[in-house]
Amino acid sequence: MSGPERLGLILLLGCSVAVAEPDLARQQELSNLLKHDCGACHGLSRKGGLGPSLLAADLAGKSDEFLVATILQGRKGTAMPPWRSMLSEADALWLVKALRE
Ligand code: HEC
Repeated sequence: MSGPERLGLILLLGCSVAVAEPDLARQQELSNLLKHDCGACHGLSRKGGLGPSLLAADLAGKSDEFLVATILQGRKGTAMPPWRSMLSEADALWLVKALRE
């Protein structure tokens, strides 16, 4: 295999790891986080509070990328904090999918 090809393969493998679903134990932790930590601002049933409603219908027009970026980076100048130190990109994507259900 030549250099550039091998690099492509490594990048490909790296990507599939980055988007792999969190395992079941992690999914449980994320569900708890969503209910308690996110729920503190967005409401226990996600209908909103200090933060906006996160019901599936409210997120319908917004892309996964946009919502994942919001979760990881927070929104400057608002109460939405960045979660990058606690959540991986795969975690944030899992949360977005959970919110859409
Ligand atoms: C301290 C309060 C607070 C906490 C805790 C919080 N949020 Fe937020 N969140 C906000 C606020 C306020 C906004 C609205 C920001 C704005 O005005 O654009 C927001 C916006 C969002 C948005 C964008 C919604 C949209 O319609 O664009 C998402 C998604 C989101 N939060 C997810 C989460 C998740 C997931 C967690 C838990 C990991 C969380 N938030 C925890 C306050 C919070």
